Amino acid sequence: MAGESDASSVATLSCARCDKPALLQCPKCVELKLPREGASFCTQDCFKAAWSSHKSVHVKAQLSSIANSLPGDQNSDLVSQGWLYCVRRGQGRTHKLPHFDWTGPLKQYLISPKRFVPAEIEKPDWAIDGTPKIEPNSDLQHVVEIKTPEQIQRMRETCKIAREVLDAAARVIRPGVTTDEIDRVVHEATIAAGGYPSPLNYYFFPKSCCTSVNEVICHGIPDSRKLEDGDIVNVDVTVCYKGCHGDLNETYFVGNVDEASRQLVKCTYECLEKAIAIVKPGVRFREIGEIVNRHATMSGLSVVRSYCGHGIGDLFHCAPNIPHYARNKAVGVMKAGQTFTIEPMINAGLWRDRTWPDGWTAVTADGKRSAQFEHTLLVTETGVEVLTARLPSSPDVFPWLKK
Ligand code: MF3
Ligand code: CO
Ligand code: CO
Repeated sequence: MAGESDASSVATLSCARCDKPALLQCPKCVELKLPREGASFCTQDCFKAAWSSHKSVHVKAQLSSIANSLPGDQNSDLVSQGWLYCVRRGQGRTHKLPHFDWTGPLKQYLISPKRFVPAEIEKPDWAIDGTPKIEPNSDLQHVVEIKTPEQIQRMRETCKIAREVLDAAARVIRPGVTTDEIDRVVHEATIAAGGYPSPLNYYFFPKSCCTSVNEVICHGIPDSRKLEDGDIVNVDVTVCYKGCHGDLNETYFVGNVDEASRQLVKCTYECLEKAIAIVKPGVRFREIGEIVNRHATMSGLSVVRSYCGHGIGDLFHCAPNIPHYARNKAVGVMKAGQTFTIEPMINAGLWRDRTWPDGWTAVTADGKRSAQFEHTLLVTETGVEVLTARLPSSPDVFPWLKK
């Protein structure tokens, strides 16, 4: 619907379709700050009649502004293609699905325009142009940092905010809610806490969290699909606050979920718990994969290999790399003061993944379901502190945690 605007300000303009005096402006053109000539209409009827040809104006304007901001060959073609693809998908152009051998029932839906972050929120370097600059060039990609007491205190604060943001998202999950609405809750709760939603514009990721439904393993893009009774959905939240990141995720049940999916989600939760239980100084990072693999395979499930846990702190992703599968080659032993995530992705069928044409959404190759849980952890002198631990206020959504 076109919005009515102050009549005096548009009285000199004529309708882009029929030349009568224009009283309405296309809200999308207003949002994109496009010239009012060509964006003004006399009536809703004229606006609607013009829509099928008019809407291409928005697509062109957004694609050209993005193309101008692309920092050349710093980004892989795939990532840029993925972003451009996402934008087209967001403009309602791609009503036809692209040619892709969809592995399961789930398909892509439309994504909404980029959400706004107020100027006063401190932002990581990718917020503006989609390209992390400090992160990929840091020594901390090779050396595992020992955090100072001051850094640890900041990590505690940030991780608590991230937990509260995820809990806010969990409370709105029910059949009929779109994953875009979940993204809006995450975005607004993060900003209300004074944080920046780390995924937003990270290598051009277009939304403020990842929402991964059913056969999506991870990095699902929030979109206009409504959650359905029987779905499982993972919400992955990362908050950037006081210069550091806190990262966690959980997989939730939507309405009544079949027994096999309930077992998958519970087993994945247990994989993370068992892995956390071995964390202490002197333990090899590669041991985590042995623990996760043992528990998953015992239940007839498989472990994703393409995505791993990671170091975290002032950087979103850094050393160490933490595979969740057995016989991995992760180097190093845990030391007090290190912070990293463990985030096992467990599949009901085979471990193999594929990526959607959007360049982000990782799905199971066999179309069967996948679940994930993630915490940000601190290695202490005696063991581990779960920085993103559940709070007394966290919603009571997992049957196995009920008293
Ligand atoms: N939060 C994810 C992780 O656990 C990373 C998401 S990156 C994004 O590492 F760009 F997809 F958002
Ligand atoms: Co992570
Ligand atoms: Co995460």
